[in-house]
Amino acid sequence: MQPHEELLAEILIDEETLQKRIKELGAEISKDYPDGNLLLICILRGGVPFLVDLSRHITVPHMMDFMAVSSYGVGKRESSGFARVTLDLQTDIRGKDVLLVEDIVDSGHTIASVLQMLETRQPRSLKVCALLDKEERREAVVPIHYRGFAIPNKFVFGYGLDLDEYYRNLPFVGVVDLNKYKAPE
Ligand code: IMP
Ligand code: MG
Repeated sequence: MQPHEELLAEILIDEETLQKRIKELGAEISKDYPDGNLLLICILRGGVPFLVDLSRHITVPHMMDFMAVSSYGVGKRESSGFARVTLDLQTDIRGKDVLLVEDIVDSGHTIASVLQMLETRQPRSLKVCALLDKEERREAVVPIHYRGFAIPNKFVFGYGLDLDEYYRNLPFVGVVDLNKYKAPE
């Protein structure tokens, strides 16, 4: 895979700006969930860096769990109407205050199906925290209770977001120059 510098069109959100906002979100969440009944659910794999940094700024006792979903779509970078659970939670969420932690809400289909599925397990509350919101692309109506940044309709990578599974480790969110990107065979 090429070094990220070759396909980076611009840094959209730099590390300092990201971390500052995540700290604010953590403070807000800590204030809203004082009872120690909070369960953060991270959607693998994109939500991992965000979950880790966010969790360190949440000062109330909380648990975390992970799930993976695969969405079917027309193209590789599109999501369709539904998502299938490929790795389920280990935790019984009944009666818990569940907060879904996602890297990005794009069409909204992924979050919409996950919310629908989790709702049937009767959590006490169920909310969404998304680092990035690509509003312009929304097809499904989804609530975003905690939002890091609204971003334009551009393909982004870094800080959990991948380009064919690479570059999730970058500490910033960058815009991809698709003309310079050589996709693996
Ligand atoms: P949605 O179901 O269309 O909202 O898609 C959400 C998923 O698509 C996210 O969890 C990401 O994994 C992926 N995705 C959407 N936009 C981007 C992007 O710009 N870069 C990388 N992944 C993205
Ligand atoms: Mg994702």
